[in-house]
Amino acid sequence: MMGIIRCLGCPSWQVIGNIQNQNKMKQIILIIMSLLTFSCSSKAQKQTTDADTQSDKKILVAYFSCTGTTERVADAIAQAVSGKLYRITPAAAYTSADLNWNNKASRSSVEMADETSRPALGGETLNLQDYDVVFLGYPIWWDLCPRPVNTFLEKYDFSGKTIIPFATSGGSSITGSVKQLRKLYPKIEWQAGRLCNGSAKQAGDWAKQVANAE
Ligand SMILES: Cc1cc2nc3c(=O)[nH]c(=O)nc-3n(C[C@H](O)[C@H](O)[C@H](O)COP(=O)(O)O)c2cc1C
Repeated sequence: MMGIIRCLGCPSWQVIGNIQNQNKMKQIILIIMSLLTFSCSSKAQKQTTDADTQSDKKILVAYFSCTGTTERVADAIAQAVSGKLYRITPAAAYTSADLNWNNKASRSSVEMADETSRPALGGETLNLQDYDVVFLGYPIWWDLCPRPVNTFLEKYDFSGKTIIPFATSGGSSITGSVKQLRKLYPKIEWQAGRLCNGSAKQAGDWAKQVANAE
């Protein structure tokens, strides 16, 4: 072995005067080089396989949004993780009067004051079987998710699925809403989620990281 190591450091084959059978030596070196090549190529193969596993995951990015803020974030996340974007669409769209939180009689105020409120949904029907991971986005309403999000979670069977929540808000955190979602839907694997009030790029980078860890 020492001979081989010394040989590799030599400028030419002629210098190795003490090695009687140079052909044998060449053969040994060729075998070592083949083994090294094989080891490198199997490492590369493994990396390709890992990358494939990540990109093979089917991701749904479902969101509810009335004034477009959460929609922009959802769009960036769907692009970052190559997910399918799905809009949670209320059967009756919310008008700006409906969204007036200063008015106790507005639609959103009435719905949020009633824990059992489940506004009807429209939009296309989902086939949840098609997805492995679900990102769920919504605006914070009175520290919670809007009631149409509850309708959505009860319309389909999310048991055993992992849901990664994300939200936008005027400043409130996502924590209260996730706590309530965990309590209402204990069969769903809830992740901590993230408030995405920063840039769309930040949201996309975060989502990519989370999706790859799944
Ligand atoms: C009815 C209603 C209630 C809201 N409640 C809160 C709240 O409790 N905390 C907060 O920080 N923002 C609150 N907001 C602000 C929204 O969370 C914020 O504007 C959000 O980014 C809007 O998202 P969208 O454009 O996707 O609908 C509320 C907005 C509405 C319409």
